[in-house]
Amino acid sequence: MSTPDLALPVTDPDLEQRLRSRLALVEKELAGHVVGRAPFITEAAAHLLEAGGKRFRPLLVLLAAECGDRSDSQEVITAACVVELTHLASLYHDDVMDEAALRRGVDTAHARWDNHVAILTGDFLFSRSSELTAELGPEAVRIQAQTFTRLVEGQIMETQAPGPGDDPIAHHLDVVAGKTGILIATSARYGAMFGGASPEVVQALTAYGDIVGAAFQISDDILDIASESAESGKTPGTDLREGVPTLPVLFARRDAAGSTDPADVRLLELLDADLADDALHAECLALLRGHRALDEARAYVVAEAEKAKRLLDALPQGPVREALEKFADIVAVRSR
Ligand code: IPE
Ligand code: IPE
Ligand code: MG
Ligand code: MG
Repeated sequence: MSTPDLALPVTDPDLEQRLRSRLALVEKELAGHVVGRAPFITEAAAHLLEAGGKRFRPLLVLLAAECGDRSDSQEVITAACVVELTHLASLYHDDVMDEAALRRGVDTAHARWDNHVAILTGDFLFSRSSELTAELGPEAVRIQAQTFTRLVEGQIMETQAPGPGDDPIAHHLDVVAGKTGILIATSARYGAMFGGASPEVVQALTAYGDIVGAAFQISDDILDIASESAESGKTPGTDLREGVPTLPVLFARRDAAGSTDPADVRLLELLDADLADDALHAECLALLRGHRALDEARAYVVAEAEKAKRLLDALPQGPVREALEKFADIVAVRSR
């Protein structure tokens, strides 16, 4: 069986081999889980699965499972499928919300078909994920349900402005913890739980996943401003065009408020303009790319990754801990 590449450089050859062969099993099972009762359902559900993706969440399940004595159990593979299916489903819905045209380098489902197909395919994938979670028992079902609640709450709260007197950055960080952090925390938690790690390690890895997950989203938002589409498989500047607030933009707003620098004055003007206009959008993106707020957001993410790594003190030194440290590092300085 050919083994997939890992979205993480693992220096220990034995660990790398174990992760690769288990990820290959996850891939095989995922392909089976997107099969529906009619060919069109399978086609729509396989569309984004087959388009690629980094498989970060299942990789984290497999890696966290290495902290226990049952890392090769079927439950670990099932848990890895559960988190990727939940993630995949959320992408179908998210692209409708964000009116995104590209995902994983291909047309989004609503662009390829329509909103109905995209939303219902997302629902289908959520329910496949729930069916599979039932195989892991009631505790896993409870965790999965709570995770989904938080994810959806995050997505809903992103559409709402902070209340009067609320700090916009704190509001945003709460949104990020929900829409992205919690599923990555659950990935680490499931891996540790089903891999047979001690309760202390389960707790430490859950907290680590929370921080790494939020940092992952913020890195993604930095990339949305800084990267070219070829790297991310998405259209850069989508958040900006759709007016979705992100940490670099909130930092830029904060830094530019009251500034007399003409670039700052213009940036604030543009951030409040209708950026559906291509020229204004390009001008705003260029100002943001050169703004110190981008570096401030990068520094924030790096500090968060350091915080996450300190939680790994609960683990013994060795290749698994080293890989988890590297996982936090690459999240902080993502290029895709
Ligand atoms: C995209 O997640 C959505 C975010 C939470 C930023 P990923 O960056 O993990 O997307 P894929 O799975 O690799 O496509
Ligand atoms: C990511 O949403 C969170 C979920 C999909 C639940 P974003 O809108 O921030 O991520 P991208 O940029 O579309 O991947
Ligand atoms: Mg989006
Ligand atoms: Mg979104």
